[in-house]
Amino acid sequence: MNRIDRSEIEHWLREADGRRLHELWQRADAVRRECVGDEVHLRALVEASNYCGRDCGYCGLRAANTGIERYRMTHDEILECARLAVELGCGTIVLQSGEDLGLGAKWVAELISRIRSEIQLAVTLSLGERSEQELEQWREAGADRYLLRFETSNRTLFGRIHPPRTGRTADRIAILRTLRALGYETGSGVMIGIPGQSWSDLADDVELFRNLDLDMIGVGPFIPHPQTPLGRGRGPKPLPPEEQVPNDELTACKVMALTRLVCPLANIPSTTALETLNPGGGREAGLVRGANIIMPNLTPGPYRQRYEIYPGKACGCLDPVQTVADLRRRITGLGRSVGRGRGDSANYRRRAAGR
Ligand code: 5AD
Repeated sequence: MNRIDRSEIEHWLREADGRRLHELWQRADAVRRECVGDEVHLRALVEASNYCGRDCGYCGLRAANTGIERYRMTHDEILECARLAVELGCGTIVLQSGEDLGLGAKWVAELISRIRSEIQLAVTLSLGERSEQELEQWREAGADRYLLRFETSNRTLFGRIHPPRTGRTADRIAILRTLRALGYETGSGVMIGIPGQSWSDLADDVELFRNLDLDMIGVGPFIPHPQTPLGRGRGPKPLPPEEQVPNDELTACKVMALTRLVCPLANIPSTTALETLNPGGGREAGLVRGANIIMPNLTPGPYRQRYEIYPGKACGCLDPVQTVADLRRRITGLGRSVGRGRGDSANYRRRAAGR
């Protein structure tokens, strides 16, 4: 297959003709089948803490949002979720949280060791911008993967929606390189339709996925949260309509399909944000346009409602058994199968083998 170049990426992003887009969907689905197969792996998502020390302009967990009750799960509560994850056929637990410095390095390291020794699961962390020492310690404790979206490759736009910690500049790209050097399976991604994000920015994002040689890539539409500056229209100004990227399902699907073409061996989830825009159909839309991963939410009910990154977050019904049963039906309904085992990224395996 020919390598898709930057101008083609931007051309496809701007394409509005449904019949021509059909060609993109078919290409992405064919590359997905050829490179990562028909298996869809389940990742159990556990939202371990909604404390956050940052003030991102888009996220409902931002420190300045005093309207949510904060929680931090205990080791035992998380281990219980991990055991349930195994019973439900998930090969990985994804521990996600706000950037909560109350989740100390040692606390996280001990949790990882316990999961790895007591339960057969791969461990993915998504705990924000943490220090190199912490990332190293967690890798040594047995963490396999780390997710940190760069959100947008437009540095000016990123700076406007993501205030740095005092005295520091946030360089997520540098952290991604560190993660890779530490031997993590490394994941990133972007939001689609941030006010001020142009088609050209989005094409740059997809190019950056390729240049970073990512193992996992999660993308989803930006969904305004009323308790945030962006949700109140106080963030960056939208661009003129022909340049502003819309935060809709079609655009998110184009990005997913192009991501599959530029990173054929990566693991790509069909994200919750996509399902939120199209309840009952968003997961499928992603799976047939390049995605091969689903992340069922296993956060216990009382906490789950408080992990409101954006409003209306689709996370299945509250009963995890039913949530996973429903996802399994939806996966097999597409003629795909539910993956067994850890579901490591084929891109990571290729790199590890030095190919
Ligand atoms: N809309 C969509 N996605 C969001 N995220 C945070 N806030 C929002 C929002 N309002 C995404 C970011 C972050 C991930 C955990 O959730 O991309 O990296």
